[in-house]
Amino acid sequence: MQPDWNERFATEDYFYGTEPNRFLVSRAAHARPGMKALAVADGEGRNGVWLARQGFDVLSVDGAETGIAKARKLAARHGVALRSVVADLRTWTWPVAEFDIVAALYIHFPSSERPAMHAAMANALKPGGRLILEVFHPDQLSYGSGGPPIADMLCSADLLAADFADLDIEALEEVEIDLASGPLHQGRAMVTRLVAARP
Ligand SMILES: C[S@@+](CC[C@H](N)C(=O)[O-])C[C@H]1O[C@@H](n2cnc3c(N)ncnc32)[C@H](O)[C@@H]1O
Repeated sequence: MQPDWNERFATEDYFYGTEPNRFLVSRAAHARPGMKALAVADGEGRNGVWLARQGFDVLSVDGAETGIAKARKLAARHGVALRSVVADLRTWTWPVAEFDIVAALYIHFPSSERPAMHAAMANALKPGGRLILEVFHPDQLSYGSGGPPIADMLCSADLLAADFADLDIEALEEVEIDLASGPLHQGRAMVTRLVAARP
């Protein structure tokens, strides 16, 4: 059973906080003029807005209208522009070869959908563009600190290596971290992280 994201985000508070994901911050360099970023499943915008603050021209996409409304609010609070679209990624017409960065943080799909979604992320990159992705690892099921409680939606490094075999993989690790995304998401967690460039 998937959460009702629209309902989850329909509060004043930011469910995942307003601070960007730490892995994204450690991997996304400052933008050069004209550089474009796609924030996939951007939720309430903490990552898309951070990218915009670094100077990227950002397109933030998410299926939850309430999330995107808060992303726009957060962008206004920081005085940055954020292009945004409400769309179901499974039926969205994904841009192709457009972005210098594709940021995909904590977006999980079942195995019946995941390879096509990961291919769409890779195809959205310009040659030389980079995908920065962090998701829960299957071992997260025993941590109880968040994420979908469904093994089929979680990703090992081997699985990501296969999905992104057409990219140049620059970093791929399975690592235990301290979650720090909003007041409800704290604690130890097991994640898989990837940075990969389109040749
Ligand atoms: C765990 S939240 C992560 C949000 C954000 N990336 C972050 O790190 O704060 C997962 C997000 O994926 C979005 N999502 C899940 N399935 C989706 C789909 N099929 N199409 C568009 N968005 C989807 C949800 O609306 C939600 O915002």
